[in-house]
Amino acid sequence: MEKKTDCLVLGIETSCDETSASVVRGGKEVLSNVVSSQMDLHRRFGGVVPEVASRKHVERITYVIDQALTDAKVTKKEIDAVAVTQGPGLVGALLVGVAAAKAFAFAQGIPVVPVHHIAGHIYGNHLVTPLEFPLVSLVVSGGHTELIWMPEHNRFEKLGKTRDDAAGEAFDKVARLLNLPYPGGPQIERLATQGTPQYDLPRAWLEPGSLDFSFSGLKSAVMMLMQKKKQKGEQLNQEDLAASFQDAVLEVLVEKSIKAVKDTGAKRLLLAGGVSANSGLRIRLKERCEEEGIELTIPPLELCTDNAAMIAAAGTYQYWDGVRGDSTLNANPGLTLTS
Ligand code: KG4
Ligand code: ZN
Repeated sequence: MEKKTDCLVLGIETSCDETSASVVRGGKEVLSNVVSSQMDLHRRFGGVVPEVASRKHVERITYVIDQALTDAKVTKKEIDAVAVTQGPGLVGALLVGVAAAKAFAFAQGIPVVPVHHIAGHIYGNHLVTPLEFPLVSLVVSGGHTELIWMPEHNRFEKLGKTRDDAAGEAFDKVARLLNLPYPGGPQIERLATQGTPQYDLPRAWLEPGSLDFSFSGLKSAVMMLMQKKKQKGEQLNQEDLAASFQDAVLEVLVEKSIKAVKDTGAKRLLLAGGVSANSGLRIRLKERCEEEGIELTIPPLELCTDNAAMIAAAGTYQYWDGVRGDSTLNANPGLTLTS
């Protein structure tokens, strides 16, 4: 099949609490990227409520798609393919996107391309700096903490993953312990910048050489420290606690990423996922990569959190590779990222 380099792909993302649609040309040029966030709705529950998320996606998806087409100044007929997040994510939320994508594609007689959410996060970077292979990507979001090896487009190999909580999840849970609103990551970051990491918290390096992560012990250590201080009637400095927690998470994330690059001989490290928005992580990675002579790609803030442009970008490369979904395409909350 001849590769249409300037193809227009409509991306759809509904895996969690963002309803998003985007039009991307040639896997690179973002013509529109509409993101309707439900964050305010879920904040009072302290986290994403799956049923509420699904219902909101149903209410918003058609408007969001229409807006993406309007913003991009293209008609439905001009779209070459629809790329949609198939998983992982909340099943009810994913289903809304998959159903909308199939309906759009079949009505227009164009292909639907299923996309893995993490592939999307990685390809978000491609929208600003073309991916250069081989690369290692540190993917850190609310649901994932993974080190991925990519020798070329569309080939993903897992080098390490979290054995319990994801990094973003750990930020959110510790924020909850500190009575901070959801999502906790930005709140912890705000406090951390005003504190010093004076509290001694554990770093889970795991067995020697392991590229896996574990954050649940750190969360428990924070909880125990809070209880101990309370029992003794001592004051705990929230800013210093946030700084100490963030320091413990970032040190492990950064050092394991550097090790993964050295182990594989990759030239480039790429950051992806919602936690990439953390300025401490961005600064620390930059410093360490400079020291080690590793090239680093960091996504702009607007492409760190969930959005459909990243799905359209990843989907375009799969479209060129001949990946297609059919009428049986279904949401898959446990979808794995295979090579
Ligand atoms: O990628 P994302 O938008 O959604 C998932 O696919 O999970 O990531 C959301 C996660 C949340 O856990 C949120 O607390 C975290 O990213 N996050 C941050 C920051 N901004 C968002 N974590 C630390 N520092 C931040 N500045
Ligand atoms: Zn995400």
